[in-house]
Amino acid sequence: MIHLEESGRELFGLHSTASTCALRGVIEMRVATSDDWKVWRQLRLAALADAPYAFTSRLRDWQGSGDREERWRDRLSLPGSCNLIAVSDGLPVGMVSGFPGSRVDAVELGTLWVSRAVRGRGVGDRLVQEVQQWATQVGVEVLLLTVASSNEHAIALYRRNGFDRAEPSAREPLAVGKFTMCKVLRAG
Ligand SMILES: CC(C)(COP(=O)(O)OP(=O)(O)OC[C@H]1O[C@@H](n2cnc3c(N)ncnc32)[C@H](O)[C@@H]1OP(=O)(O)O)[C@@H](O)C(=O)NCCC(=O)NCCS
Repeated sequence: MIHLEESGRELFGLHSTASTCALRGVIEMRVATSDDWKVWRQLRLAALADAPYAFTSRLRDWQGSGDREERWRDRLSLPGSCNLIAVSDGLPVGMVSGFPGSRVDAVELGTLWVSRAVRGRGVGDRLVQEVQQWATQVGVEVLLLTVASSNEHAIALYRRNGFDRAEPSAREPLAVGKFTMCKVLRAG
């Protein structure tokens, strides 16, 4: 498994100072721009290695010839998207994205991952809530996501944040073993 600690600190320009030590336990949310591609890459490769069952992308899709600076930068520059990194004690520990999907009245939440070292501390809740806030500011009516039906920790997290299972759409059939969840942000 990829270790984020020192390299993550260095890549994110985060140094162990008295003030970051004093903030031990505090989770900060940072917007990732294309210049943060190295930290995003490390988190994403760690996520794909740790939880292949959770994502459509495969680790191998982003390794070898798929592992290029320009591709990571493009990923962080998708128009109408929002990419967030959770930082704990100066270290990157989680990630999430919000991005446009096929519905004009909705955006999608994806790429959610929290490092095992900090699970169960509310980092997932914070990441989901930040994307929800972004979606509300964008002005869409609905926040959508796709989850594997066996991913009980993720499903529990989404449910306690107000997501419900959505009716399957005939237009956009999902892969076997996955379903869509949605949260209505405002009436259409
Ligand atoms: C889903 C996820 C973000 C939730 O992380 P989180 O918000 O920190 O976790 P929660 O607060 O819901 O955790 C509740 C408890 O379950 C445990 N837990 C959470 N996810 C777990 C997992 N994948 N495996 C085993 N235990 C897990 C936590 O350690 C915690 O235990 P505790 O109460 O004894 O401390 C995280 O499990 C994860 O990154 N999973 C892999 C990627 C993934 O599934 N992404 C979602 C794709 S749709």
